[in-house]
Amino acid sequence: MSFIVAIDGPAGSGKGSITKLVAEKLNLECIDTGAMYRCVTLEMINKNIQINELDKIKNLLNDIDIKLEDENQKVLLNGEDVTQKIRSIEVTKKVSQVSAIKEVRIKLVDLQRKMAKDKNIIMEGRDITTVVFPKADVKIYLDADVEERARRRFKQNQEKNIESTYEEVLSDMKKRDKNDKNKEFGALKVAEDAILLDSTNLTIKQTTKEIIRIIKRKQKEEKIDKKVYEETKNTPFKKFKLFLTKKVVYYGFYKIVYRIKKVNEKNIPDEGAYIICANHVNMLDALAVVCSCKRKVRFICKESMFKNKALGWALKLADTIPLNREKNDIESMKRSLKALKNGDILGVFPEGTRKGMEKNLKAKSGAAFFSLKTGTKVIPLGIQGSFKPFTKVKLVFGEPLDFSEYYGKEKDKEALEKVTNIIMDNIVMLTNRDK
Ligand code: DC
Repeated sequence: MSFIVAIDGPAGSGKGSITKLVAEKLNLECIDTGAMYRCVTLEMINKNIQINELDKIKNLLNDIDIKLEDENQKVLLNGEDVTQKIRSIEVTKKVSQVSAIKEVRIKLVDLQRKMAKDKNIIMEGRDITTVVFPKADVKIYLDADVEERARRRFKQNQEKNIESTYEEVLSDMKKRDKNDKNKEFGALKVAEDAILLDSTNLTIKQTTKEIIRIIKRKQKEEKIDKKVYEETKNTPFKKFKLFLTKKVVYYGFYKIVYRIKKVNEKNIPDEGAYIICANHVNMLDALAVVCSCKRKVRFICKESMFKNKALGWALKLADTIPLNREKNDIESMKRSLKALKNGDILGVFPEGTRKGMEKNLKAKSGAAFFSLKTGTKVIPLGIQGSFKPFTKVKLVFGEPLDFSEYYGKEKDKEALEKVTNIIMDNIVMLTNRDK
């Protein structure tokens, strides 16, 4: 598995220096694809090959050997260190035209993909986010005003004692932009899903910091995704264990201690994703629903419930989703969305805490959010009883609530509140029905 950061942007946007700094900090291999186009250009100059001599260019491409040494940042062309030579004015003037040749692009794009195989890399250029790695883990388009980019390049020229005026650099930069953006193949474009970063008013340090932040956030997200993906596989043995445990706990505990009774369980369809929303009476109610229901219900429960050994074991077996209420628990959210995507039933206590209604606490909008984001119906459930040993407990299921008029509005606070209120009204009604 490799991790790929792709960075595109116009000349002078700071990609080169920033990419190197980010690579060092995050231990990624750095690949400067511009240097590769420069190598082909240099080789054409060495062999006196013109832009229109396609056969000669093809031969040159067949034999060319380009290596980018990561440790010392050296560029090797057919074994020769050309790190300095490829930055000459002669190469810079011609490279834009060379990079527009289709055969050159095909060869180098192929080479770039091979260079990245099974590695963690950061690759910069013009078409990395769009052509070379359209599915890169992180895609950034680094931009800056052309005047600012020309100022930076002019300053670099002065430092390197390269003679130029600001006006010359600016006009050259504008020409390069036009060429890079209007090439038939591999033109510089902003990929739809790239993060646009404007460095006009940022220092190199600030831009580097921002890019590192973006990459780290993505790495963290991918770690969570992996964990969620690898979530306990549903083997036939596990299914059997769950079936058996449900029966034993249901008949051996809930039926004896609480004479548990189900009303209208038929409101739970045999297939498909649903969200069961119930009032939260006692720490034993989630397991009561899990063990009583004909289908598997994956409740979202606070993390601390898993600490109790026996309860934790049972909750895990039922693929209960832990929730850390102290933080914005993205992992829990991803697990829940995945459960619904898989066609499972998600169990939620909108009160958020035990006896939230009695305590006059505002209901949480998580269930509404999941329903509107995934287009899932909600089955209200009224849990009647106090869970005092040897008193009755009744689970009264309502008909599935359809919120399709609000689907897709999961970010609209008003919609969330309306849906949450409807869910809560139904739960309250069911807690008072058939008493
Ligand atoms: O980033 P640079 O200035 O070293 O790039 C040199 C040239 O190569 C530039 O004109 C754009 C071109 N290039 C390209 O077409 N595709 C890439 N992936 C990288 C560079």
